[in-house]
Amino acid sequence: MIRKYVFGEPIDTGAVVADQPAEKDPIPYFEVLAEEEQIRLRLRMDPDEVVFGLGESVRGINKRGHRYRSWNSDVFNHTEERDSLYASHNLLVFFRPDRLFGIYVDDPGAITWDLGYTQMDLAEILLENGAASVWLIEEPGLREIAAAFRSLTGRSYLAPRWAFGYIQSRWGYASEAEVRKVAEEHRKRHIPLDGICMDIDYMQDYRNFTWNREAFPDLPRTVREMKQDHIHLIPIIDAGIPVREDDETYVSGKEKDVFCKKADGSDFVAAVWPGRCVFPDFLRKETRAWFGERYRELLEAGMEGFWNDMNEPALFYSDESLQEAFEKVRALQGENLGLEGTGQLKDAVNAMANNPEDYRRFYHRFNGRTVRHDRVHNLFGASMTRATAEGLRAYAPDRRFLLFSRSSFIGAHRDGGIWQGDNFSWWSHLRLALQMLPNLNLCGFLYCGCDLGGFGCNTTEDLLERFLQLGVFMPLMRNHSALHTREQEIYRFSIWPMMRDTVSVRYALLPYLYSEYMKAALGNGMLFRPLAFDYPEDRRAVGTEDQVMWGEGCMIAPVLTQNAAGRYVYLPEDMLMIRFRSASDYDLIPLEKGDHYVELPLGAFPLFVKKNHAVLLSRGGEHTDEVDEEHFILLGQVTEDTEYALYRDDGVGVSPILAEHLTRIPIPPQENRSERFCPRPGRN
Ligand code: GLC
Repeated sequence: MIRKYVFGEPIDTGAVVADQPAEKDPIPYFEVLAEEEQIRLRLRMDPDEVVFGLGESVRGINKRGHRYRSWNSDVFNHTEERDSLYASHNLLVFFRPDRLFGIYVDDPGAITWDLGYTQMDLAEILLENGAASVWLIEEPGLREIAAAFRSLTGRSYLAPRWAFGYIQSRWGYASEAEVRKVAEEHRKRHIPLDGICMDIDYMQDYRNFTWNREAFPDLPRTVREMKQDHIHLIPIIDAGIPVREDDETYVSGKEKDVFCKKADGSDFVAAVWPGRCVFPDFLRKETRAWFGERYRELLEAGMEGFWNDMNEPALFYSDESLQEAFEKVRALQGENLGLEGTGQLKDAVNAMANNPEDYRRFYHRFNGRTVRHDRVHNLFGASMTRATAEGLRAYAPDRRFLLFSRSSFIGAHRDGGIWQGDNFSWWSHLRLALQMLPNLNLCGFLYCGCDLGGFGCNTTEDLLERFLQLGVFMPLMRNHSALHTREQEIYRFSIWPMMRDTVSVRYALLPYLYSEYMKAALGNGMLFRPLAFDYPEDRRAVGTEDQVMWGEGCMIAPVLTQNAAGRYVYLPEDMLMIRFRSASDYDLIPLEKGDHYVELPLGAFPLFVKKNHAVLLSRGGEHTDEVDEEHFILLGQVTEDTEYALYRDDGVGVSPILAEHLTRIPIPPQENRSERFCPRPGRN
């Protein structure tokens, strides 16, 4: 059951697709405190209450015990105490044996979630805008809550099948020769590859919708030739448009008057990569239509995937904050700077970027009203994604494109995927990546992944290998790293054959992963789930923070620490462990419910399969087009007649109907492993 409660005058964010009239009674469970311009919802929590949700956020799967803030932020170097990341996913699920409900707070402004930080048994949700539509979701189980939330907010994005392949990315590929080299190095070593991301370096002067014509003399040809080799080029697009009279996007945007304005009616200007930029008012339909149309040249060049970035929006400095910084620095000039003075100097410069004051300096035209940016801040990135998605739909209504964004809000899960932002090459960020996955799925973001290997600082061979082992299970499997860090392509490392073998497992699992993904997307399910979603009565499972369910019948438990040759795993029921070393080299070890120490030397990683479920393993391939979808090995401990519903389609159709694409594969009782031929329906 879903009920709606209205506080103040809420802004229609477009996140909800199944609106309903608001309740007249007060919201149950919560005490509501109206304070000046803000509203506080207060809930008492039991000692054993668990809280899921908040999608992209730091810390554990259970969000309890800390404070978070929905305020989309460009937070390079995000550590445990950061209260905001790049996205705002305002859904919480409170779970204890005698009480279960979800609460979705639909408001695009700042919201603080104090989940036992100030006081351990108290949850407080502070609506800083003083208004919101609040949805209460009550269902008998956790999975039903997730499904109900999806029916409220709409079907998750469907990525094309090729987007489930391995993607290589790096900030710094600046020419056709460099991109081709990446492709060649993979192909010659038989490291599977389906895509290469082009970061800002392909652009001319970091300007959207341009490319450096010297470095990429014939981009359409390059795109075509790479596609013949089954590799997609995936360019980045940023939110800011440089203020330059020689920039076509700027000039046409000025003509159409699409940029965000300051109170005096002039364009708001702030710097990003190309220097001073203006920002499209993506909240307006007309702006989205204009922006979506700008992708046309890249689409005509043959591009089929894009990543949108810096769309919190990230602001290096505004004209105003730069001026303030200079003034503060000048005021300190000549002083004898001690503890305080040095701090002030640093603060003066640091305060320029993503300054809260700047987010109050510009306005949107939204639903016929002028709205100050900070009131709708968290909608900006999602609206950019929407602009792109609408543009792609207008260009080719019958085709799926790859699209993923850094910033997001609920609703954007219908239009694209996301990546987890600028992580670091830290073991703690490997763990964080795992922990975010189930909460992202709960919030509808099924197509997601992290920068494998870590984006910032220098990775190590073993860290990258362990990241890849987790990446095998992530829909977006992308190795990405920052400029000036250690080069991180698989072929740079002495253990590249091991890493190649790890990626090969992904390709062997591809038909199964794709099937599980599509079933989750079309059936309002989750690919990754906290263990509690499958074992709500098992307190050990409910408290597990380093293992997650994957697909209908599996669990993953990656190695997350350096120099480990294995790890402890908790099995909530009997399972078959598949210990992979490559697509063709694995052990099958039945394990009983309980605790196990599992040997997992570097290069080995496990997948646990529930009893009476089987995982399909294909022969794999070097790209997704090469993966055989008819011949499989079934791996599973099956003691009674069962079946697997395998989803297959053309990989690009936009509105597949679930039932039409399922092949039911009967699985009689078997000894862990059997060969099977499952022809596609309609074939002889
Ligand atoms: C941002 C993105 C990162 C990208 C960089 C340069 O930091 O998060 O992925 O490589 O910008 O475009």
